[in-house]
Amino acid sequence: MQGLKHPPSKRVMVTRGAGFLGSHLCDRLVGDGHEVLCIDKLFAGAKRNIAHLRDAPSFEFLSHDRLDEDLIGLAPL
Ligand SMILES: NC(=O)c1ccc[n+]([C@@H]2O[C@H](COP(=O)([O-])OP(=O)(O)OC[C@H]3O[C@@H](n4cnc5c(N)ncnc54)[C@H](O)[C@@H]3O)[C@@H](O)[C@H]2O)c1
Repeated sequence: MQGLKHPPSKRVMVTRGAGFLGSHLCDRLVGDGHEVLCIDKLFAGAKRNIAHLRDAPSFEFLSHDRLDEDLIGLAPL
């Protein structure tokens, strides 16, 4: 039953990750032990929304347009 309490961590890409909803999603995923690649072009959100995650080893921020085709190459496998 221990496996159910601690499912394996995943690598997750969160687009719009510095916005209101995305930053809370990043919080939750990092808190649950997952690796998070946060993508945001900062059109509307703010880095301060994710500033507290900056030093987390499992969190990475990338300023990038989520609609760019080359983003596919950055997607965690
Ligand atoms: N305190 C509160 O209750 C509160 C605060 C803010 C917003 N809201 C609500 O939350 C909802 C909006 O939240 P949200 O998180 O969807 O919007 P948001 O505007 O907070 O975040 C959207 C994010 O997506 C990014 N973005 C947009 N297009 C992009 C692109 N092409 N590539 C990369 N990044 C891109 C923006 O830079 C921004 O950081 C609304 O309903 C709003 O009323 C509530």
